[in-house]
Amino acid sequence: MALNFQWQKRLARLAALTFASLAGQVLASGNAEQMYNSFCASCHGPDMSGGLGPALNNNKWKYGGTDEDLVRVIKKGVPKGGMPAWEKSLSDENIRALVILMRERTYQKSIAATPTPKDAVTAAGYTFSLEKVAEAPDELWAMDFLADGRVIATQKSGQLWVFDKDGKPQQITGTPAVWSKGQGGLLQVQRHPDAASGWIYLTFSDPAGKGAMTKVVRGRIEGNRWVGEQTIYSSDPKFYTDGGVHFGSRMVFQDDYLFFSIGDRGQQDLAQDLSRPNGKIHRLHADGRVPEDNPFAKDKNALPTIWSYGHRNPQGLALQPGTGTLWDAEHGPRGGDEINRVNKGANYGWPVITYGMNYNGTPITSHTAKPGMEQPQHYWVPSIAVSAINFYTGDRFPSWRNHLLVGSLAKEQLRLLRIDGDKVLSDTLLLQGHGRIRDVVNGPDGYPYLVIAGVVYRLVPKS
Ligand code: HEC
Repeated sequence: MALNFQWQKRLARLAALTFASLAGQVLASGNAEQMYNSFCASCHGPDMSGGLGPALNNNKWKYGGTDEDLVRVIKKGVPKGGMPAWEKSLSDENIRALVILMRERTYQKSIAATPTPKDAVTAAGYTFSLEKVAEAPDELWAMDFLADGRVIATQKSGQLWVFDKDGKPQQITGTPAVWSKGQGGLLQVQRHPDAASGWIYLTFSDPAGKGAMTKVVRGRIEGNRWVGEQTIYSSDPKFYTDGGVHFGSRMVFQDDYLFFSIGDRGQQDLAQDLSRPNGKIHRLHADGRVPEDNPFAKDKNALPTIWSYGHRNPQGLALQPGTGTLWDAEHGPRGGDEINRVNKGANYGWPVITYGMNYNGTPITSHTAKPGMEQPQHYWVPSIAVSAINFYTGDRFPSWRNHLLVGSLAKEQLRLLRIDGDKVLSDTLLLQGHGRIRDVVNGPDGYPYLVIAGVVYRLVPKS
């Protein structure tokens, strides 16, 4: 876009004026929308669809489309093309937040053009539909299968249900009281892989004092009663808080070990503090004993249960078939949902590094990587609100076997990540617009099962 000299001068003046009058108040809050409206919208259009400058929401980039390319253009400008340089007026954090905002607007535009599938959907090599299996009175959080094949599921408000073959719910009485507020409640349910043991594990937000904290118990079911409860993990009462967010709470068994996650509980800096349970993935023996080879078992200043740290709110955990490696899905802030391979003792960086910004559009940091901190195998900007994950192991969708099914809340998506070893090869949208997907489980009948709001579905291919 060649501009004559006269125009270039006028634009430079305009940019300088805009900046002088608005910079103070806008930068003080540093909200991405406000920054965009004040500094960019006059040329790129209020909705980013272009004006004097090109559209920033159609994924067509003259100067390159990686995050680094966009940061460079915004910092240095294109003086001859009429794009001012912003490096003197905007901080690295501000520019990072603007890049995230451009990714969000691009995503919104692409989604607006995609119709919501209602019946059968074709994606990733199959045509399939959702078949309703069971329904609860209120929102479910997680499900598993009892040894006899019946579905067991947690209702977030505190009820544990077992569904008979016709999908009729029966409540299991005597389960622990839960702190049912915000994101808290009765959370995951998981049967011990040794069916003969009869153990069922639950995670929930345990009420104590004025607040709550993630707790793990196990018990057995006799008739419709919860009996023989044992505490597997609970935190020191001084770590309980009345914050209603980020309980984490996914569990997965590996041989005799139990991995489970606790989110940062809304206190992000604690994810880096090894003396606190927040923002960690923990590992115990299935009976609650601390394994001697846990990475910080001999560190006096660390909690011995910690397996990895620097997590925000991991709501998905899964073991990779073949390698046995632990993977997690981490609910990021605004932008920056992550899929990680979880290694012993490793630091996943939250909140020192992240691909996201705060929900109100203010920046968190401009750093997406640092030495000594792990990079995700995959991430989403904008966020899909990633929840449960599971490697598909059934035989109804043969080409999906050993690849990762990923659920999302806010974007109401089911995605398939094709994975080879430690590499994510592709990310395909399978379903969208059917509701918030809270759990993704392998059925004993080879179908993938989904928990969406208060309903259990299975995904059935059309032959
Ligand atoms: C005075 C008008 C003006 C303002 C203000 C302005 N831009 Fe631009 N911008 C342009 C023009 C014109 C171009 C195209 C330059 C070219 O093609 O050589 C451009 C290009 C860009 C590009 C590169 C697009 C591509 O295709 O690679 C990005 C990214 C961008 N602007 C972001 C921003 C952001 C973010 C802001 C606010 C902080 C902003 N611009 C403010 C006029 C402006």
